Amino acid sequence: MRPLYLRKVPNLFGIWVVPRKELSFRPNVGGGIFYLYKGEIDMKEMLEKIKSAAQAEILGISPEPEKAAAELENLRIKYLGKKGELTAVLRGMGALSAEERPLVGKIANEVREFIEEKIESAKAEIESAMSAQKLKEEKIDVTMPGKKNAAGRLHPTAQVLEEIKDIFIGLGFSIAEGPDVELDYYNFEALNIPKNHPARDTQDTFYINENTVLRTQTSPMQVRVMEKTQPPIRILAPGRVYRSDAVDATHSPVFHQVEGLVVDKGVTMADLKGTLDLFAKKLYGEETVTRFRPHHFPFTEPSAEMDIRCFSCGGKGCRLCKNEGWIEILGAGMVHPKVLKNCGIDHEVYSGFAFGIGLERIVMRRFDIRDLRLFFENDIRFLKQF
Ligand code: DAH
Repeated sequence: MRPLYLRKVPNLFGIWVVPRKELSFRPNVGGGIFYLYKGEIDMKEMLEKIKSAAQAEILGISPEPEKAAAELENLRIKYLGKKGELTAVLRGMGALSAEERPLVGKIANEVREFIEEKIESAKAEIESAMSAQKLKEEKIDVTMPGKKNAAGRLHPTAQVLEEIKDIFIGLGFSIAEGPDVELDYYNFEALNIPKNHPARDTQDTFYINENTVLRTQTSPMQVRVMEKTQPPIRILAPGRVYRSDAVDATHSPVFHQVEGLVVDKGVTMADLKGTLDLFAKKLYGEETVTRFRPHHFPFTEPSAEMDIRCFSCGGKGCRLCKNEGWIEILGAGMVHPKVLKNCGIDHEVYSGFAFGIGLERIVMRRFDIRDLRLFFENDIRFLKQF
């Protein structure tokens, strides 16, 4: 900028002043106005300078959307704010001549609008850049192969147990559960298997101490229920049982039984047969034929085992029924009066029947599984098949 030279002329009072028409001004960044001699710096030129400076600064904002937003706000304050450069020019308009004022005012407004517009469009650009970036970051590629949710399923043993439970619940039974670690008294003594009884031989088990065992059967649940409940009783007690057997294709030290017990007035062997025959038909189909063979269990009298006619060969004999034509399903019998007495139930008034189902054998036949060990290995390739 050239140094200013102000031409002074005497006014009416003989005081030397700069003629108003010859004055121009320039806004001072620090506020206030420098009056300039007209022609030295053109008003228009000044507004143009503000315009192009603002434009250049707006163009030069950071490419990072977040920074850019802050920068734009600073520019808006710098040019259009209360103490901004353009505002300073507008403030100085009072010093202009009547002819100059509308002209400069018009240009100043245009410049303000121009800057406003530039800032607005830069803002819009930033916003769309931000949302584009967000979209990019959060993009979901719907063509990507989905993640397969491997749904689990019930173990085959659990599946068959559910079926058995359903059948008996349908007959009015409720489910009872008890401890795996059982007192010798419940597992043997109360079931009429005193110490040194030969039945203990076939049910050798794991002793926790002299009086405590891992239960060899679910039958102790009969005692536990009868001790606490007076008849009528109709319960089903599924659970894990233990015996000290070596592992092979048909033996496991851990397996499952489902115990049943019915005690009421006037319960007879006919109820036992009717109930268990119905159970067999529900589980294996309506055409299933059952038979009851005499057997011995210390806690029932009389005792029986129930077979079904082989569903694979129809009784002719095959691999499944080991050529016998019949398949053993469960043990059963009328609850021994001694057992009722042990549980505080009057055997003169009440009678009952009980049964015990070996769950694994039923499951093995159902799915043609030939090795018991598969049940306990939990190999997913095996479990997935059922
Ligand atoms: N607890 C017997 C066993 O493990 C099975 C059994 C037979 C249970 C006859 C009973 C029953 O309730 O009446 O071999």
